[in-house]
Amino acid sequence: MKAAEKYIKDKLAERLSAGLYRALKPESTLIDLCSNDYLGFARSSVLKDHINEELKCLPLVLNGSTGSRLLSGNLTYTEDIEQGIAAYHNAEAGLIFNSGYDANLGLFSSLPQRGDTIITDELIHASIIDGARLSHANRYTFRHNDLNSLKDKLKQAKGNCYVVIESVYSMDGDTPPIAEILALTERYNAALIVDEAHAVGLYKKGLVCELGLEDRIFARVVTFGKALGCHGAIVLGSDALRNYLINFARSFIYTTAASVHQIASVKMAYDLLRDADETISALKNNISLFHKKIKDCPYPLLKSDSAIQCVVLSSNELARKTAAHLQNTGLDVRAILSPTVPAGTERLRICLHSFNTADEINLLTNTLKQIGNA
Ligand SMILES: Cc1ncc(COP(=O)(O)O)c(C=O)c1O
Repeated sequence: MKAAEKYIKDKLAERLSAGLYRALKPESTLIDLCSNDYLGFARSSVLKDHINEELKCLPLVLNGSTGSRLLSGNLTYTEDIEQGIAAYHNAEAGLIFNSGYDANLGLFSSLPQRGDTIITDELIHASIIDGARLSHANRYTFRHNDLNSLKDKLKQAKGNCYVVIESVYSMDGDTPPIAEILALTERYNAALIVDEAHAVGLYKKGLVCELGLEDRIFARVVTFGKALGCHGAIVLGSDALRNYLINFARSFIYTTAASVHQIASVKMAYDLLRDADETISALKNNISLFHKKIKDCPYPLLKSDSAIQCVVLSSNELARKTAAHLQNTGLDVRAILSPTVPAGTERLRICLHSFNTADEINLLTNTLKQIGNA
């Protein structure tokens, strides 16, 4: 017991002295430039009212789901919504998981088998890495968005091969050449899986649908905790894939199902998304305004058309100091430090929203320019 306590304390002390200690903070009252609530759904009183009305109309609303989906926790209501969401994204079927992390863990730990191959972009999300680690498949990464590097790995692949990308990368905000990656995976008879966590919303149904590629993509993961302002996720694909996951995805099987409140929230958020053209335009306008105003800032900006915009400061200290300066100015901007991102690419990760005002964006860009030119 004492040895375990010592181990914990030593590890925490190590983190502290490296300046990488993580601690929970109370909710922020600053201007939101860091949350994933891109379209303001999480804070929408309209959505809240719609959810309450929906719950009032349901015949039986249990506070909890009472069990896993395979035991007492399944509802026809949930299955209908799953089907509705799949249809919205032009997919044959979908299976809801309790989070995006669970969805990726379940998908990548259950589908690829020993002797198969998983090839991921080097910037792929941790939930996909963790799922792939739990599989017994061979794992390779390819250089970020680099088709030649992907081709090299495809040549080495054995067994069934799964290539995994994000349509908007969570830490860089950029977009891969999806059509070219798809054509390459098809040439090597590999299946392409796309995580659309940060694309759905800005691209209403996701980037895969925007590009008209949905029929050729093996599976997509859509999370409900970002632009949809809720919680949970869905894996989209064929009916057979859905049935496979129900049978083999352990993060689906061995967990209590989401409550009806959570499912109703997702249903009403999708209804809001269907009519969100003006809100999406407001987000796009804010992205354009940010690009215009940041132009003469001395710090490099990663290329991104999404709500995620990264200003590269190239050291943990400068990134931390600049974020603190912005926070003191009233702007909630967070630093992303190494080793979360490679050393030398430490950055501010700015998330823009439909509800940010022009004044807020001006304050952000002017403050950054002042700091950079001081
Ligand atoms: C690309 C990507 N996939 C999956 C997840 C996990 O989703 P969730 O937050 O719903 O667990 C995230 C969230 O950080 C993400 O950025």
